[in-house]
Amino acid sequence: MKLWAGRFSKEVDKKTNDFNSSIATDSRMYAQDINGSIAHVTMLAAQGIIPKEDGSAIAAELAKIKEEIADGALAIDPNAEDIHTFIEQTLTERLGDVGKRLHTGRSRNDQVALDVRLYLRDECDEVLNLINGLINSLETKGEENAHAIMPGYTHLQRAQPITFKAHLSAYVEMLKRDLGRVEDAKKRMNSSPLGSGALAGTTYPIDRAMTASLLGFDSFTKSTLDGVADRDFCVELASALSLVMVHLSRMCEEIILWCSWEFKFVELDDAFSTGSSIMPQKKNPDIAELVRGKSGRVFGDLMTLLTVLKGLPLAYNKDMQEDKDAIFDAFDTVKICLTTLIPMIDTMKVIPENMRKAAAGGFINATDCADFLVSKGLPFRDAYKATGELVALCIKTGKTLEALEIEEYKNICELFDDGVYEAIKLENCVKRRGM
Ligand code: ARG
Repeated sequence: MKLWAGRFSKEVDKKTNDFNSSIATDSRMYAQDINGSIAHVTMLAAQGIIPKEDGSAIAAELAKIKEEIADGALAIDPNAEDIHTFIEQTLTERLGDVGKRLHTGRSRNDQVALDVRLYLRDECDEVLNLINGLINSLETKGEENAHAIMPGYTHLQRAQPITFKAHLSAYVEMLKRDLGRVEDAKKRMNSSPLGSGALAGTTYPIDRAMTASLLGFDSFTKSTLDGVADRDFCVELASALSLVMVHLSRMCEEIILWCSWEFKFVELDDAFSTGSSIMPQKKNPDIAELVRGKSGRVFGDLMTLLTVLKGLPLAYNKDMQEDKDAIFDAFDTVKICLTTLIPMIDTMKVIPENMRKAAAGGFINATDCADFLVSKGLPFRDAYKATGELVALCIKTGKTLEALEIEEYKNICELFDDGVYEAIKLENCVKRRGM
């Protein structure tokens, strides 16, 4: 039986029912739905809108239903229209007329807007914890390799010497901003829509501040239409999560490169790599590749949410039921990626010798060589040109800057002296840059 069966003379068509139902997606919000209902019914009783005994009976039975769903004693009906319907119907089957009082002064529209916020609030906390976990792992890996010198790149061409720690620190900073973005979106989302009703509030003397505070909200939504009609918090979160995935994807791309024989800067633990069914020698960084690939899902989720909302007249429209699939998928994806990446990074072996070898080629100390001439009084542009000529000479003769004789330096610029060899030592190059 539908909640709204009164006006209808027929049961809904089976396929239509399946199409319309959101139970497969929203059943995961059962605890939030029940917590919201308990707060609502507590307020109804406190305001004298329903009898106190009924309020207590409903709250107690809802708590029981929550426990039974949690331990598997009560199975959620996959044919129910949505989780709100299923819980209210179960309550009414058990309490009869008393159960029917629960929905006084409320609509599924403010109920679902509430449930999603409550659910996403917890999801934010989980994601924040995981991002912090990855930050810790990257900081630890960086500390362990604080003196490992590698080439820093621009255009994927060897550019200037850096430490592995400095490289990882860049990702730490990106992830810290990600934390800020999720926290910020969470704060803005933390306003209770309960009491918005279908769209125009209610005529009952409800206490919106009370339900908001019972549920840990900072405030309640001022406009009842806005309370039920907007899902901008889903968009904000999906956008913050998209950036998380951009950062994870870039990091994974580098790990994939570093695992190749061409680089071999790192080696992933066997537990976080996979083999090939035909090539016995292969050890593939599938996890990193999958994270890179899964970033697309989250960007897609963001696009879904924007598109769902863009043409909707106020207030609630059924289109908005699509919000949950998108935002839940975004959170699921980010969580599984972070959960897998953290131990992969923790167990990743760094090979500083190979980084050092790569750093020794590619003339990545050329800027420092030019800076040496600047310290002798030459304008930078002239120093740049002289060093360029030195590099050209090295390429022609198959030498490195370190291997050139002092006469060769002096032939190109007489300001050079023996001090240049100290100036272009990679260790000194990174030290001078405060790495
Ligand atoms: N399953 C619906 C959703 O997720 C719940 C709200 C239904 N409201 C309505 N008026 N049909 O949006």
